[in-house]
Amino acid sequence: MNHRRALRAAVTIAVTGALAAGMTMTLTSTASAGTTLRASAAEKGRYFGAAVATGKLSTSVYATILNREFNSVVAENEMKWDATEPQQGRFSYTGGDRLVSHAQANGMSVRGHALLWHQQQPGWAQGMSGSALRNAAINHVTQVATHFRGKIHSWDVVNEAFADGGSGGRRDSNLQRTGNDWIEAAFRAARAADPGAKLCYNDYNTDGINAKSTGIYNMVRDFKSRGVPIDCVGFQSHLGTSLASDYQANLQRFADLGVDVQITELDVMTGGNQANIFGAVTRACMNVSRCTGITVWGVRDCDSWRGSDNALLFDCNGNKKAAYTNVLNALNAGPAIPTDPPTDPPTDPPTDPPTTPPPGTGGCSASVSLNSWTGGFVATVKVTAGSAGTSGWNVGVTLASGASVTNTWSATATGSTGAVRFANVDYNGRLGAGQVTEFGFQGTGSGAGITPTCTAS
Ligand code: XIL
Repeated sequence: MNHRRALRAAVTIAVTGALAAGMTMTLTSTASAGTTLRASAAEKGRYFGAAVATGKLSTSVYATILNREFNSVVAENEMKWDATEPQQGRFSYTGGDRLVSHAQANGMSVRGHALLWHQQQPGWAQGMSGSALRNAAINHVTQVATHFRGKIHSWDVVNEAFADGGSGGRRDSNLQRTGNDWIEAAFRAARAADPGAKLCYNDYNTDGINAKSTGIYNMVRDFKSRGVPIDCVGFQSHLGTSLASDYQANLQRFADLGVDVQITELDVMTGGNQANIFGAVTRACMNVSRCTGITVWGVRDCDSWRGSDNALLFDCNGNKKAAYTNVLNALNAGPAIPTDPPTDPPTDPPTDPPTTPPPGTGGCSASVSLNSWTGGFVATVKVTAGSAGTSGWNVGVTLASGASVTNTWSATATGSTGAVRFANVDYNGRLGAGQVTEFGFQGTGSGAGITPTCTAS
């Protein structure tokens, strides 16, 4: 075959192929855009999620709706403390892992719910108090967030820590009695364990500007001003027969603090207003550019924890309800999240200056950031390679008397009291010139005076 004919044939095939691909793409997007919750939310830069009980994934009506309509999931129970650490120090991730796999196979992101909460604690934790409980709680946060690292879009780090009623203060609980700083200790531990997840505070009865939501607002403002790592606030929105007129204004005032907001557990009591309320909540979220997604607390009415309230978007046979249509219309009518949102200044605390001399021609340096409370601490250590880079490092610290390391991540510890050494694990050993890695450890006793020194090999 002469070259020209061969070329023409190839071009024809290429053009036909491109046309076919183009047509398919057009058809696909026309067919899906605006007709499912997940496609409509995604078009607007948001997610639409559902709480899932993994036992139902094998029910085909359930799985069909879930996979068709939702692009985010949260475990209704399977990532809670009682499920993930049924005995102290013995972790169980079966349900959570199963949900993550399902999500990954179906193009869904995962909300993590919830690292610390006064309810659904394992029996052993319910009976604890003081620094033993604080240490156990922080260890729980560290272990669970580390297990799921890289797989969670947003974590509810702390759930329902504020009191109902007019006080605007904290709820009494065993966790609260370990000291008012328990929430920030949890957020710092979660950040150290999974720096890529958005860290949320989540609560209910916050559906408008009221004493409880204002208490939370003040905490978030304080956290932002002091560099406590918080990225988002979840509004559960378990709703009755009316919606606060300042629902959107409340979301907006949190967004204005520099955090994302998410509707995290939406369900609405049945009755004449149900469909309107679902629509109004969706519109409110769409009107707040930092409202990044909505999660409903279950798929069908019969899946709901709210018994006979028929509180969800699908009836028990899997049919779409009027509430569904209102939500879909509101998603389609709403604005998209601006593609280039203004970036906030970094919220994490400035890291301490290196405590060893800056890297010279070789070697490495290490600096520590400490999160301490009475009876315990978490140390996050940053290792920086010198100008020659390193293929392995070793960091030494000397602990105060009475202090001991109980748990280490992203490094291997030798010793637990007095002079303790930490060696790199495989994946963070090799560092180019000036490159940085991080590891951490938790201890009991005082973290005062920890000054890391680094040796490179
Ligand atoms: C509920 C679950 O839906 C139920 O299956 C379980 O028995 C109790 O917890 N706020 C929350 C959720 O943050 O974790 C709760 O989920 C509902 C209220």
